[in-house]
Amino acid sequence: MKVRALVLASQGKLRDCGIENPARDARLMLANCLGVEVHRLNLLDDSFPSEDELSKFWIMVDERCNRKPVSKIIGYRAFWGRNFEVNEDVLDPRGDTETLVEVVLKKKFKTMLELGTGSGAIAITVLAERFDATCVATDISRLALETAARNSKIYGVQNRLKLLQSDWFSKISGRFDIIVSNPPYISAKEYNELADEVVDYDPKISLTPGGDGLDSYRQIISNAREKLRKNGQLVLEIGYSQAEPVKKLLDGAGFSKIRVHKDLGSRDRVLSAQAADGSPVT
Ligand SMILES: C[S@@+](CC[C@H](N)C(=O)[O-])C[C@H]1O[C@@H](n2cnc3c(N)ncnc32)[C@H](O)[C@@H]1O
Repeated sequence: MKVRALVLASQGKLRDCGIENPARDARLMLANCLGVEVHRLNLLDDSFPSEDELSKFWIMVDERCNRKPVSKIIGYRAFWGRNFEVNEDVLDPRGDTETLVEVVLKKKFKTMLELGTGSGAIAITVLAERFDATCVATDISRLALETAARNSKIYGVQNRLKLLQSDWFSKISGRFDIIVSNPPYISAKEYNELADEVVDYDPKISLTPGGDGLDSYRQIISNAREKLRKNGQLVLEIGYSQAEPVKKLLDGAGFSKIRVHKDLGSRDRVLSAQAADGSPVT
């Protein structure tokens, strides 16, 4: 079967399985099997994939029908124009998180701390865009840090990135110009309502801290000021309904200039705040 026909046939199968974007998914998976960029797939329309390529592709289509995310089938996710390795050990970076990167890149800083780096998408993107910056990026998961290390080498930022296994600030010494985090923020109740596609393929620890979903913010915000330099910045991704409770936590911890930033869907997505004196509330 030629590539053009294969795209149509697999698209039909995916649609019958109830997959929302069958054309996009079919093309991404086929391009991956054939070892070409997805935008170049059309150039191969009249060629015949090998038997091996075909069997690999139809296995991928079956996996997608079983609700495995395309990124975890093909092994990477595009984020801020770069492809990041993703696997069962890391959260699939979300498009909404580009809002956090956008906010961070508007700030002035040389030293950054990222808490909960996962695939490393945030830290590596910022370092790739800011040649004069260095970053310490942490995660509680050793396997996530191994994935972030591989991603950092792909983009040549490994010499400016220190990866550290740490429970939030437990292993962090020194102070930073900016602290950023997209922590797990889904409540226990919302977690039980998530699609299988998310629950089965993103690590639970990357999605929810349990309870009301705010525990990561409580831990990060109550300790952040003593790790920030004078006028240091804290930038946090939030769930779209969490701006008010997280603003209260920031206010209570003595942060000023608290701002809410919206994502492309006009939902509250990021909070930024400043630590005037860089010292803890006593
Ligand atoms: C929502 S994911 C964000 C991953 C990545 N930064 C991104 O935006 O795609 C949260 C990350 O925090 C990590 N994490 C969860 N609890 C943690 C803790 N107590 N200390 C440090 N990292 C933690 C998880 O392993 C996960 O990688």
